[in-house]
Amino acid sequence: VVVRAYSQLAAEGYLDVRQGANPSVRAIPDSQPASIAAQSRPLFPKVQYDLRAHLPEVSTFPRHVWLRSVRNALASATNADLSYSDKHGLRKLRLEVSDYLGRARGVVADPDCIVITTGATHAISLLGRVLAERGSTRMAFENPSHRFLHKVARQAGQTLMAVPVDGDGLQVDELGTAQSVLVSPAHQFPTGVVLSADRRTELIAWARRTGGVVIEDDYDAEYRYDRTPIGALQGLSPEHVAYVGSTGKTLAPALRLGWAVLPPSLVGAVADALGTSMVNVSGIDQLAFADFLRRGNFDRHLRRMRVIYRRRRDVAVAALAAELGDLPVSGIAAGLHVVLELSSREIEAAVCAQARSVGVLVESVSQHALPGDHVPAGLLIGYGSVPEPALPQAIERLASAIHIATGSGHQLRSRATVEAVQPRRRRRWQTSTR
Ligand SMILES: Cc1ncc(COP(=O)(O)O)c(C=O)c1O
Repeated sequence: VVVRAYSQLAAEGYLDVRQGANPSVRAIPDSQPASIAAQSRPLFPKVQYDLRAHLPEVSTFPRHVWLRSVRNALASATNADLSYSDKHGLRKLRLEVSDYLGRARGVVADPDCIVITTGATHAISLLGRVLAERGSTRMAFENPSHRFLHKVARQAGQTLMAVPVDGDGLQVDELGTAQSVLVSPAHQFPTGVVLSADRRTELIAWARRTGGVVIEDDYDAEYRYDRTPIGALQGLSPEHVAYVGSTGKTLAPALRLGWAVLPPSLVGAVADALGTSMVNVSGIDQLAFADFLRRGNFDRHLRRMRVIYRRRRDVAVAALAAELGDLPVSGIAAGLHVVLELSSREIEAAVCAQARSVGVLVESVSQHALPGDHVPAGLLIGYGSVPEPALPQAIERLASAIHIATGSGHQLRSRATVEAVQPRRRRRWQTSTR
């Protein structure tokens, strides 16, 4: 046993065993060369408050209720359900999604026009690819818009065209030669602006006139606090709008479960692309979500989360007012973040870096800007994943970072200092309802 143990350790490189010499423990080099070890030393302290805009609360995920739906799904799954699924996604789920989208979002959702994806990003990527294969490679993006989606569309073969956003949303008359356009009409990311009724009409008229495809990213429309959620654009013209939604903000990003409701002219090609991508949502999760929807658990969860997020929004806005006085805050009516407007990109960058150095993670508007049109500066302050009692401290910490980065000491609330950071003029995205 001893001899075998020694020879095993020698074979694995732990011992030096030479005939006539005592076995010795090998000097094992540091697992990382010094330079790599130095590089991987954290530059910043641990993140204490993560105020990034895209993060939802996941601790409230209804684990027990979901587990019940998984059990129900397994108990009732047919053998066919457990085999290779329909490339569109399981019909049982498409029927439930169709029902939900029709009543909650005003989407005209024929189950045969729905595909089940791993989220909104996946659907946008598939659409980008299919459009590119058809020779439609000029995709317009709101400027600013989510930077990750810029990457995804480029990877899908699209050339991006930046279109400015104002208080009414996307400036449709700036679409130029675009062949498709990605919009978030209910709650523009990141400005929070709603696409006005006139612009909706103009956008649909553009699609009808040019044959362009409108991709509606309805990523967080369920969360509107000051009135009922604004209905989807897709309902106005289902044959021109590809509607994209997800459980990423409503249940948990880790589920990787979303959907697209497609114009009939695109369904077949997108379903083919989905089928050959071999990136599909597990059939068991699809059945579980169908059960979850059917029993009204999704609606119940949304009602619960709306109350939680609304309270967090109120606390965040109050804390910002208390800490930063008159700095304008916009985009408060919906979603999981607000925009604190700043006067320049330089200040934005300095504030983000200073905040990071004190353990606060926050993104800027400019990080989501495309080259071209000038985008007003601001901070995106996400309250989605920070518990309500911690929000005032998080905002206080952020405010002190702003004071330091802008050199405004702790007297920012005095009007003169506020003016230095943010001229009090009506900002481009401000609407009467903010
Ligand atoms: C504006 C916007 N669209 C789409 C997505 C992607 O959602 P999913 O996780 O479903 O891919 C996000 C995620 O943060 C988002 O912020």
